[in-house]
Amino acid sequence: IGRHIHFQETVDSTQKIAARLGYEGAPEGTVVVAEEQTAGRGRLNRQWYSPSGTGIWMSILLRPNIPVHQAPQLTLLAAVSVAQAIEEIGITVGIKWPNDILIGGKKAVGILTELQADPDRIHAVIVGIGINVNQQSYHFASEIENIATSLCIETGTHVNRATLMQRIFANMEKLYKEYLQNGFTVIKVLWESYAISIGKEIKARTMHETLIGTAIGITDDGVLILEEKNGSIHYIHSADIEI
Ligand code: BTN
Repeated sequence: IGRHIHFQETVDSTQKIAARLGYEGAPEGTVVVAEEQTAGRGRLNRQWYSPSGTGIWMSILLRPNIPVHQAPQLTLLAAVSVAQAIEEIGITVGIKWPNDILIGGKKAVGILTELQADPDRIHAVIVGIGINVNQQSYHFASEIENIATSLCIETGTHVNRATLMQRIFANMEKLYKEYLQNGFTVIKVLWESYAISIGKEIKARTMHETLIGTAIGITDDGVLILEEKNGSIHYIHSADIEI
């Protein structure tokens, strides 16, 4: 991972460029990185602020030979790789399901996974990772300033983006090999060791409804399991979680 890197100064979204490379047959492990994104995309059709020179905005192309329903596992794998890399530079992090990385309760990293697939076969998985690295508080738009943070704000020091990226590639390559060889088990245990939503009362807003209950765990496919007070169990594939 990271042996083929396409670096660009300004792009609309690295996801779009990686998607094009995916269709053109680019090899697994190809990475697209940009200094700035003018139309960075977040989960649930949100915008992702990607100002110039402050963060890591990148998309990683993978071509795993796995069934489509297992693709969310790769999002959790990516979250673990990034969480490990940030901990390696001395910052304690937690993961909020599925893949927000929080520091002191505020979001520093977002991950967006997109698929190029037929119903029965994955052609490519594009893992988009956005890390707020060297932003100061004034860089954040007012609607996110209370919920977002950066590594620099949390440590009080400038963080080298190239070093952090190298750590992420190294961690991800190791975990990805483990995953392809032995499946999701080890990744799941690691993910759970960072999880801050499991065992807690949460509010989950899905496309259709808002559910309140206890997050009791994740399935082997990375799906969140929520238990309501009345005992009914819900499997949540996509939602916004409030703890
Ligand atoms: C989220 O909503 O938490 C996911 C944010 C993902 C942002 C990254 S930045 C690099 C890549 N390109 C995009 O347009 N989005 C992802």
